[in-house]
Amino acid sequence: MREQWESNAEAFSGLIDGEGTPHHRKILNPCVERLLGDVKDKKLLDAGCGEGYLARYYAKKGAEVTAIDLSQRLIETSEQLTDDEGVEIDYRVDDVCYIESVPNGEFDLILSNLVLLNVPGLEDAMREFQRVLKVGGTLVFSIVHPAFNFYGPGSWEMGEKDPDTKRREGLYFKVDRYFEEEEYERYWKTKQGDNFPEPISFFHRTISTYLNSLSSAGFHLLEFAEPKPIDDDEFFDRERRIPFFAVFKAMRVE
Ligand SMILES: C[S@@+](CC[C@H](N)C(=O)[O-])C[C@H]1O[C@@H](n2cnc3c(N)ncnc32)[C@H](O)[C@@H]1O
Repeated sequence: MREQWESNAEAFSGLIDGEGTPHHRKILNPCVERLLGDVKDKKLLDAGCGEGYLARYYAKKGAEVTAIDLSQRLIETSEQLTDDEGVEIDYRVDDVCYIESVPNGEFDLILSNLVLLNVPGLEDAMREFQRVLKVGGTLVFSIVHPAFNFYGPGSWEMGEKDPDTKRREGLYFKVDRYFEEEEYERYWKTKQGDNFPEPISFFHRTISTYLNSLSSAGFHLLEFAEPKPIDDDEFFDRERRIPFFAVFKAMRVE
């Protein structure tokens, strides 16, 4: 996994470009922010921070942020961007499944944004999140929606290309082999439309697997969200019909 993200680090940083893609900005991030609540003076762990734009965003909102990522190159990019923006964040190269750099009960909040679907050891990550959170602390994590997930066994059946938007019409989403929890490799594309250097591994899991992993690790589910686009931009026609992301908010109770 580490090699994939090291090889793709530059392409991934270019895609995120300090602010996330339109899908992040118009669908996911507002929901994540609502679920995190007031972060001011809270100790927040960004677990799998990527190029760190969310870590920087919440640091500017007053959180005391620690950010970890498996990729040394992405942590170096994050540090550089953070210096440029004049905020303070404690960065560490670390694995969400075995967080070596963090003692028990350290954080009020954990954000793990679009990370667990790339991680083979879901139970390991949940155990670590439970360990490093304070009792009563909150975990917010997001994934691409597993039922309607083109990084897994499903896909859109596409119609004709719209001459105005240049997007092909989405006829319906084909859900198949939902119960088969498997690894899929997919190439992401840069903004210029080129493939990333390496494929990325995605671990398809059912919603019940995610929910049960929370309760097994000692979490109480506070909210499960399937966010819709925040405006009526035609670009998101498909995302208004079926959810693109799934977001979980849970509290450490044990
Ligand atoms: C899709 S990116 C999301 C990055 C960031 N959270 C965001 O929203 O832009 C997934 C990130 O998870 C990191 N990652 C993958 N497996 C990891 C692991 N086991 N421990 C820590 N980070 C991991 C990757 O290096 C990558 O930066």
